[in-house]
Amino acid sequence: MSLDIVSQKPLDRLAAALAADLALVGSMIRDRMASEHAPRIPQVTAHLIEAGGKRLRPMLTLAAARLCGYAGPFHIHLAATVEFIHTATLLHDDVVDESARRRGRPTANLLWDNKSSVLVGDYLFSRSFQLMVETGSLRVMDILANASATIAEGEVLQLTAAQDLATTEAVYLQVVRGKTAALFSAATEVGGVIAGAPEDQVRALHTYGDALGVAFQIVDDLLDYGGSSEVIGKNTGDDFRERKLTLPVIKAVALSSPEERAFWVRVIEKGDQQMGDLEQAMAIMARHGAMAQARADAMTYAAQARAALSVLPDAPLRAMLEDLADFVVSRIN
Ligand code: IPE
Ligand code: IPE
Ligand code: MG
Ligand code: MG
Repeated sequence: MSLDIVSQKPLDRLAAALAADLALVGSMIRDRMASEHAPRIPQVTAHLIEAGGKRLRPMLTLAAARLCGYAGPFHIHLAATVEFIHTATLLHDDVVDESARRRGRPTANLLWDNKSSVLVGDYLFSRSFQLMVETGSLRVMDILANASATIAEGEVLQLTAAQDLATTEAVYLQVVRGKTAALFSAATEVGGVIAGAPEDQVRALHTYGDALGVAFQIVDDLLDYGGSSEVIGKNTGDDFRERKLTLPVIKAVALSSPEERAFWVRVIEKGDQQMGDLEQAMAIMARHGAMAQARADAMTYAAQARAALSVLPDAPLRAMLEDLADFVVSRIN
């Protein structure tokens, strides 16, 4: 199985449909990432934000709001809020994961230091709170504040599950729902809420974001083992080095022979990793079809995401969100 991004088209179509809104979100982000008093802040934020990124989460918010007929100004604030929360978590995540590449560039923790990444991440979190307050909606603040807490919980749960070969698929899902899907579902849900959509549509948007986020993270975890670091803009093999029990590893461990199990104990539990071990891990996963099974799970979540949208208005944006669910899984083929 080769793990390469095959098509950006659904993402490009969504970006084209939302171009005017996205430009406003871009200006708002540039405006609010500045700081008059601490030059290190714009240096670090510009490094990361100008590197791009897919802008997937802000697009989710914009698309959800527009699909539900919103014509006011605050979906822009919410999309910028969501991207700020995302960017803050990336700064923190790269410290925690000791990662060296992000969005095709050296990470901020490598270029500056961990202290700068942690503190600028905190700054961006705070900026995100200011932005959401401007919407005046207590309900969107509730959703986004909950999502922020849930993301942090997911990252901490992952920390304590790492290196533990007894980690189950249920724990993995709990981690992924927290660290990734919580922001996807909040992004889509607040779009519906700000538009004043009926409750069944708001619920459907939440379900869509949650399932899409789980599919997205499963695929991200697969790409860590066989994607091209050129294409994903991050180094591969980080999860193995950090001894994380991601879905393909959990599946392979469950099917391993005693000899293979001894390998996992050495590299994951004891952390005694040598040259060639990453390749060996991938060979064991391939032998047990673990990657293919994890991909099939991602496809199931993508199908759930797609199905959830059936109660939303039958409009071109809905079709684009449906296609996005396929895109997320098509990042691997
Ligand atoms: C990276 O998310 C963090 C994960 C949840 C895997 P993205 O892949 O959406 O990151 P950018 O914003 O496009 O760089
Ligand atoms: C992504 O975590 C989730 C957050 C950043 C909160 P990962 O550690 O799995 O994602 P990448 O691979 O660094 O983007
Ligand atoms: Mg990481
Ligand atoms: Mg991480």
